[in-house]
Amino acid sequence: MKINLFPTWMLVDNDAVHGSTVVVIDVLRATSTIIAGMENGASSIIPVEDIETASRLVGPGDRGGKLLAGEWKGMPIDGFDIFNSPNDFTREKIDGKTVIFTTTNGTRAIVSAAKAEQVIICSLNNLSAVSKAVSENEKLNIICAGNAGRLSSEDLLCAGLLIESLEGKGKRDFPSDAGGIALLLAKEHSGNIEEFIRGTDRGRQLLDLGYESDIVYCSDLDSSSIVPEVKQGKVVV
Ligand code: MLT
Repeated sequence: MKINLFPTWMLVDNDAVHGSTVVVIDVLRATSTIIAGMENGASSIIPVEDIETASRLVGPGDRGGKLLAGEWKGMPIDGFDIFNSPNDFTREKIDGKTVIFTTTNGTRAIVSAAKAEQVIICSLNNLSAVSKAVSENEKLNIICAGNAGRLSSEDLLCAGLLIESLEGKGKRDFPSDAGGIALLLAKEHSGNIEEFIRGTDRGRQLLDLGYESDIVYCSDLDSSSIVPEVKQGKVVV
């Protein structure tokens, strides 16, 4: 398997992604939040790149069946119904609803894969399920969201664990240095995931903002077995 890793969404090469299978990772917190939402019965989640686009998709008469969700630069968005947190995407709020979702990096990472044949939503929460789903692929692109063009090491760790799980099946042949670095990170930290995430840039910011429960949630390896995919612009399972 040829695995190509884009360390942030800003580094995505559209030609390389075209027609391929892409796994998108934003551990803190967009893809973890999407997986929580799909686990809790959202009928679909529509990732969009900015607040204006999200707001346009929900008319005044839509508010019963549609929810606006997300964050911008870490802060809740005025007039939106739910925040970008897996602990906010509860069954009570989300069951049966269509969720229009925008975040600073994660949803942009998903949108950056728009030309792919298949787009899979991955976090630590569903890592083994995603690994199984892509294990027969000959080629795989992984997009880590990162943070405004900077690396996020929790995303790299998750990518490395995915690559390591595929290596176990004798299927690794990644062409980029980024994939090798992610794998090294995974080999070093697979035994202390939560502790590692608490020490990352984003992890420390979330702890400072009082979101420790999100760190715990997002560090929980394989708590979910669903493999959400983006189909015609909507995340579904
Ligand atoms: C993002 O998309 O930048 C993150 O999901 C931000 C966050 O953790 O709220």
